[in-house]
Amino acid sequence: MLTKRMEIELNKQINAEYWSAYFYLSMSAYLEEKGLAGAANWMRIQYQEEISHALKFFDYVVERGGKVRLQPIDEVPHSWNGIIDIFEETLKHEQKVTSLINSLMDIAIEERDHAAKSFLQWYVDEQVEEESGVQTLLDQLNMVEGKGNGLFLIDKDLGQRVFVDATKKD
Ligand code: FEO
Repeated sequence: MLTKRMEIELNKQINAEYWSAYFYLSMSAYLEEKGLAGAANWMRIQYQEEISHALKFFDYVVERGGKVRLQPIDEVPHSWNGIIDIFEETLKHEQKVTSLINSLMDIAIEERDHAAKSFLQWYVDEQVEEESGVQTLLDQLNMVEGKGNGLFLIDKDLGQRVFVDATKKD
């Protein structure tokens, strides 16, 4: 059984993951508008991954006998200053998510909830991948200054990304 505090905090994280999903879907629309179909695909997959992060928390709350309480999702930004700005904001956002996951881990430790600690470790590891993947992309975009042939090739590459369902990953 989850403690009340743990249940509240896990529900907040479900909402944060849905907000992330909206954030990236909004970026996908912007990139599509700018003719960057590959980057738009990458963001759409990112959106799907965030939904699966939310569902993984959802399933966990249910599994531990807690109550899921879905809250409204706040509005997300709709415009940016080009693709480099997009990926800079993505990196900043993922760093913020990492701090949310770390705070959740701190709470699990304070509540002496060893099961939650084990569950949250998946997200700790996932955030390392998230941040490093986005940093690599940002480095590549900065190398070509978000322009010309280089951008064309990066966009083509981003179009290859496929969805991996977090609820099915151990
Ligand atoms: Fe759900 Fe991008 O972290």
